Amino acid sequence: MQKNLTQTTDFSEQAVFANRVKSLAFDIYGTTPKACVITFGCQQNVNDSERLKGMLCECGYTITDEMEAADFIIFNTCAVREHAEMRVFGNVGMTKHIKAERPNTIVAVCGCMSQQEHIAQKFKRSYPYVDIVMGTHVSHRLPEFIYKRLSGSPRIFELSMDNNTIVEDVPIKRDGTFKGWLPIMYGCNNFCTYCIVPYVRGRERSREPEKILAEFKEMVKNGVKDITLLGQNVNSYGKGCDHGVNFAKLLRMLNEVEGEFVIRFMTSHPKDCTIELLDTIRDCKKVSRHLHLPFQSGSSKILKRMNRYYDRESYLKLIENAKERLDYVDLTSDIIVGFPGETYEDFKETLTLVEKVKFASLFTFIYSKRNGTPAAVMEDNISRAEKGKWFDELLKLQEEIAKENINKYIGNTYRVLCDDFGSRDGYMTGHTNGTAVIEFKADESLLGQFVSVKVLGYENGLYGEII
Ligand code: 5AD
Ligand code: SF4
Repeated sequence: MQKNLTQTTDFSEQAVFANRVKSLAFDIYGTTPKACVITFGCQQNVNDSERLKGMLCECGYTITDEMEAADFIIFNTCAVREHAEMRVFGNVGMTKHIKAERPNTIVAVCGCMSQQEHIAQKFKRSYPYVDIVMGTHVSHRLPEFIYKRLSGSPRIFELSMDNNTIVEDVPIKRDGTFKGWLPIMYGCNNFCTYCIVPYVRGRERSREPEKILAEFKEMVKNGVKDITLLGQNVNSYGKGCDHGVNFAKLLRMLNEVEGEFVIRFMTSHPKDCTIELLDTIRDCKKVSRHLHLPFQSGSSKILKRMNRYYDRESYLKLIENAKERLDYVDLTSDIIVGFPGETYEDFKETLTLVEKVKFASLFTFIYSKRNGTPAAVMEDNISRAEKGKWFDELLKLQEEIAKENINKYIGNTYRVLCDDFGSRDGYMTGHTNGTAVIEFKADESLLGQFVSVKVLGYENGLYGEII
């Protein structure tokens, strides 16, 4: 196995720039400057944005949701599908008039889109009001880039990649109080043929277990009760590292931490989901009963073309093992419809797989061509309209299954984290440690607390009562 060469550095160099920005920005704007962070895409990006906000606070900015009022605007972008990219271009375009009115405003773009050379070039050429484009490997250098631009440097385009370094101790300003994200690894080595992620996020790098444990304990101490561990493929955590802690062992370690909380994780690649992991989930009471196992296609032929390293049979065997070992588990998945070369016969295998497994919910996508990936040059003969029909057929099937699934909850009692206001006055909602949401009568003082709720029935959603 290839040795993991990951090294860890810290934020100290950037802290110096943050201090410089603090005084320079105050001089330029004449008051405490405001920053707006706009996020597209996955939970990894949501967490990265929390770190962008942390760094911006360190630089003396206050955070605003209003782009129009901000002195610094940053778009944290997603490149997974074309639709996401189009939305980003539209949104960045809206800053043109802000820049015309207030030329001191700084506009920046970061995240997966900006790591692609052709996209950075497009910002350079066609969006002259964009000041900073920074790739995914340098986002911790935000204070340095702001400082340089405020001091009159030319526009900044920094896309360099470093696959061996993890930067720890980047300041963070979390969006939530009782729910939080915790990255355990970065990058992806799988190169599924449709996916741009390995090209823009680089190779797999695992954080040190001690760093993860320290951040986890800090979150628990601060009252976070629902913690999601993040990685493109958490099941390959620790591969090639000397510390010998794999994902199952990491879960056991975190499960030992004192306190009442739920540990969630995503995403799991089915090829690395081991019996050891299933048994760990069974043994660890604080680990959620939710497995997000994206199967992408029910056809072994298509899975091979996707470079997924499992086939229909081994996926179904994995699901059988999971159901056998876990008395209760909510299964969810990602599916791509209309991959190049997929026929209706292949797609029907996706339908029959969905019918067999009975997922709690699905994230379904029509295949989107990503330049630079192997699938982009594969022959694709099915029209978008035809793919749309298949897609609708899949949604309809899942709707029926979701209705059937409801019965498995009714009559049971769950420990739920009361996490939001309900649809009616005096009602709150909570999540089980799987994926179900239950509404129940409760005082709002219970927000952020665990309660035991018995599910009584279903009416536009599950409802129940605290017992
Ligand atoms: N087209 C459509 N969906 C995609 N995904 C990743 N790349 C593409 C693409 N090119 C989906 C996969 C993945 C999820 C995060 O996004 O289903 O699991
Ligand atoms: Fe993309 Fe596949 Fe890596 Fe997921 S595992 S990020 S789908 S390449």
